Amino acid sequence: MTDPDLLFPPGFRWGVATAAFQIEGAWNADGKGPSNWDTRAHRPGGLAGGATGDVACDHYHRLTEDLDLMAALGVGSYRFSVSWPRVQPAGRGRWNGRGLAFYDRLLDGLLERHIEPLLTVYHWDHPQPVEDAGGWAARDTAARFADYAEGLAVRLGDRVRRWLTLNEPLSVMHAEMSGTPRPSARRHGLRIAHHLLLGHGLATERLRARVPGAEIGISLNLAGTTPATDRPEDVTAAARAEAYEDRLFLDPLLRGDYPHLDGGPVIEAGEDDRRHIAAPLDFVGVNWYAPARIAASAAGRFGYTRVPVPGADTNLLGWPVAPEEFGALLAWLRANYPDLPPLEITENGYPGADEPDATGAVPDLRRIAYLRTCLRQVRAALDAGSDIRGYHVWSLLDNLEWEHGYRPRFGLVHVDFATLARTPKASYLWYRQLITAQRQEGKVPCSG
Ligand code: FCB
Repeated sequence: MTDPDLLFPPGFRWGVATAAFQIEGAWNADGKGPSNWDTRAHRPGGLAGGATGDVACDHYHRLTEDLDLMAALGVGSYRFSVSWPRVQPAGRGRWNGRGLAFYDRLLDGLLERHIEPLLTVYHWDHPQPVEDAGGWAARDTAARFADYAEGLAVRLGDRVRRWLTLNEPLSVMHAEMSGTPRPSARRHGLRIAHHLLLGHGLATERLRARVPGAEIGISLNLAGTTPATDRPEDVTAAARAEAYEDRLFLDPLLRGDYPHLDGGPVIEAGEDDRRHIAAPLDFVGVNWYAPARIAASAAGRFGYTRVPVPGADTNLLGWPVAPEEFGALLAWLRANYPDLPPLEITENGYPGADEPDATGAVPDLRRIAYLRTCLRQVRAALDAGSDIRGYHVWSLLDNLEWEHGYRPRFGLVHVDFATLARTPKASYLWYRQLITAQRQEGKVPCSG
C-alpha cells in the first residue's frame, strides 16, 4: 500500500535525469571534440581527486544496459542532454554524423521502451572553440547556440517533442564569477546571464519553427530567498538575492523585463533582446535541492550571503537538508507569477557516499527519506493549486559531479567506477514501487 500522500493524478510524468558530460565518457570517440569541461578536467588541479569525464559512467558504450535499467524502473520520461562538442565539434558549421548516431540510438531505444525523451540542449559543456571565442561572455555565443539548437531540431525533432534549452543559467553565471576577481566579476556575471537568456530565446524561436507541436521549457535552479532574520538589513538582502537569483531569470522570461533594484533594471537590455528572451514557454523546469537563508554581507558580490538553515543537517556537499521546505518555493512561484506556465520538476536528489554492504545491497535510506518528503511537498502543492506535470530524480546513475569529482553519489543506481558495474540501490526499488503503485491506484475498478 502506498502512502496516500504519494498518489499523484493520472498522467503525472515520472522520470529520471542525467547530463552528457556527467555520464557519457568516450570523451574523444567517434569524432567528438573537447569541451570546456574536458579542458578544465585535464588541467592540473582541475576537478576534485583529479577526476575527468574521459570515461565517467561509460554510458556511451553501455547505452543498452542503462536503457534497460530505466525500463525496469518504470519511468515514462528521461531527461538527458546532448553533448554539443560530440555533434558539432567546432561549435559551428560541420555536424559529426558518428556523434549524432549515438543520440539516434538513444532516442530509438527510449521510444522502443515507451519512455518519452526530454532533451536538454545545453547542460554546461560547449565545444572548446566556443570557449576560446569567449564562451558566454561573448554575445555571438547566443547566436552559435541558436544555430546548434536548430540543427538538433532538424536532426532529432522527428522523435523529440519535449525540449529544455538551458540547464541552470544561474549556476553558469556563478561558476564564471567565481573565477573572476572583483570588481569586474559582477558585470561579467550579469553579461553572461543576459547572453544565456538571449541564446535561450533565439533557440526557443528556432525550435518552435522546426518542430511542430514541440513543448519548450528551460530548467532553472530556484532556491527561494528567505531572510535569515527579520532585521531590516537581512530583509533587504533577501530582496536583493531574489532579484539577482530567482527573478533574474523568471522576470525576463515571463514578464519581459529584468527585475528593478535601486531605481533601475538589474540588467539594461534593448527591447529586441527582451522580446526574444520572453518568447512564449510551454513549461518551466524547476531544479530543487535545498532552501536558502540570506543575510546582509558587504563581502558578498551583490551585498548578501547564504547562512546555515537553523536546525538543518548538511549533506556531503554542505547543502542544508530541509526537504520539507520545497513547498515554500512552489508557493512563492504561485503567489508571484500568476501567469506561470505549467511546472516540471526537472531535478531533485540527494548526494551520499553510498557503497554496497556485505550482502551487495546499497541501503541509501537517507535518499529515500529526502525524496519522499520532497514528493509529499509536490503533492501538497498540487492540492494548493500548482500546475506541476512531472518529476525527475537526479539522477539515474552515480556520476561525475562537476568540480566535486566522483565522491558525491546522486544515483538511484550505484556505479563502481573501477569496474563500471551498475547496482540498483534501495532508492531505485523504492521509486519503482512508487511508480507501479500509481498505475495500480489509477486503474478504474471493473464492474462484473
Ligand atoms: C545541478 C546540476 C546537475 C547536478 C546536480 C547535483 O545543479 O544541474 O548537473 O550536478 O546539480
